[in-house]
Amino acid sequence: MRTSLHGSVSRRVFVTAAAAAGLGATRALAQPAPLKIGVIFSYSGSGPTGLTFDPGINLWMSQHGDRIAGRKVELIRRDDTGIAPDTARRLAQELIVENNVEILAGVAFTPNAIAVAQVSTQAKKPFFLVNAATSNIMEKAPYMSRYSFTTAQLCTPLAKWAVANGITNAYSIVQDYGPGIDAGNAFTKQFADSGGKVTGATRFPVNTEDFTPFLQRAHDTKPQAVFVFVNASTGGAAFLKAFRDVGLARDGVKLIGTGDLVSENNLPADGDLALGVITAFHYSGTHPSALNRQMIAAVERLTHGSLTADFTTVQVYDVMHAIYEVVAAQHGQVDPDRTMELVKKLKFESARGPIAIDPATRDIVENVYIRRTEKRNGKLVNVEFDTIPMVKDPNEHYSS
Ligand code: PHB
Repeated sequence: MRTSLHGSVSRRVFVTAAAAAGLGATRALAQPAPLKIGVIFSYSGSGPTGLTFDPGINLWMSQHGDRIAGRKVELIRRDDTGIAPDTARRLAQELIVENNVEILAGVAFTPNAIAVAQVSTQAKKPFFLVNAATSNIMEKAPYMSRYSFTTAQLCTPLAKWAVANGITNAYSIVQDYGPGIDAGNAFTKQFADSGGKVTGATRFPVNTEDFTPFLQRAHDTKPQAVFVFVNASTGGAAFLKAFRDVGLARDGVKLIGTGDLVSENNLPADGDLALGVITAFHYSGTHPSALNRQMIAAVERLTHGSLTADFTTVQVYDVMHAIYEVVAAQHGQVDPDRTMELVKKLKFESARGPIAIDPATRDIVENVYIRRTEKRNGKLVNVEFDTIPMVKDPNEHYSS
């Protein structure tokens, strides 16, 4: 990467100040250059994940202002349009070279996260990963830290919970890319290690719309439970419909998986077919905390009731928290190495519960909740009934 990518804040402040001083405008010396943050997200991609993103940013800034240590925060938003790593890479490069951003934040999907991570590594720009759930993407990206979850982090405790609660055989069905491959491998390994029997396992293409043939195969193995990972932007409605259509629901087969399936903004489309689904996740709309209630109210206000807070809103709000904290600790400067030292010490209360960044991996450590989808006051909600505290990514290289 060319050295022009490394233009530091102090140099830009100096150049601005020197030019101002030359003109005799000494008062301009007091004005630090804005802090530019490049934000990449799938605003126009499918599913609700893009739409819940800005309310999380807006809520944080309405509470904490638009300045850090006197520097005005300038967000430059870009749309990567969905799973599109080449677009995400180009946007990250442009944000650094043309817009002079000092920090990158965002992305929903693993392939895009890998692409932006490469740019962040070459340009030494701290990258605050909002979503993406594949374990092994952190290793080669020393300037990246993760504020979401990994599917292995969720599925390892879920498999233990299943066996401990009498599920002795299960079929695994997962979306065929990073987070799904990790989910299937982590679940089946831990399920077998805990004494369960895997009746079969399959993967479906990312854009699958008809799950019937896959679930027919699952049904044929007569499992007690089906384990699933399908990402939140694909949505669980079509999966739940096929689960019913092939007779799995009728035959009393339990459905377990990660919370993406029944993410809060997917529940209206899922309808009553989601009732009774058991999922492991790091955030639930019903999580009892003042911060969570505030977040839900703010998103409903900002989207005029069309959306509610979901895991992506909470993750981006926590990314804003992390950025404000590490930049304030540097009095408004962003030295990449100092930023990462500070990131590795982060520990604070989120709307999801307590979180910390693991200094060894820059991955998030957080509670995993086991939840059941229920109806309360006529509304579908995910109810937490078991908490596995402060879980780390198992760091097992499942999909490599
Ligand atoms: C991912 O691509 O890593 C991903 C996207 C959406 C999810 C979970 C994981 O809901």
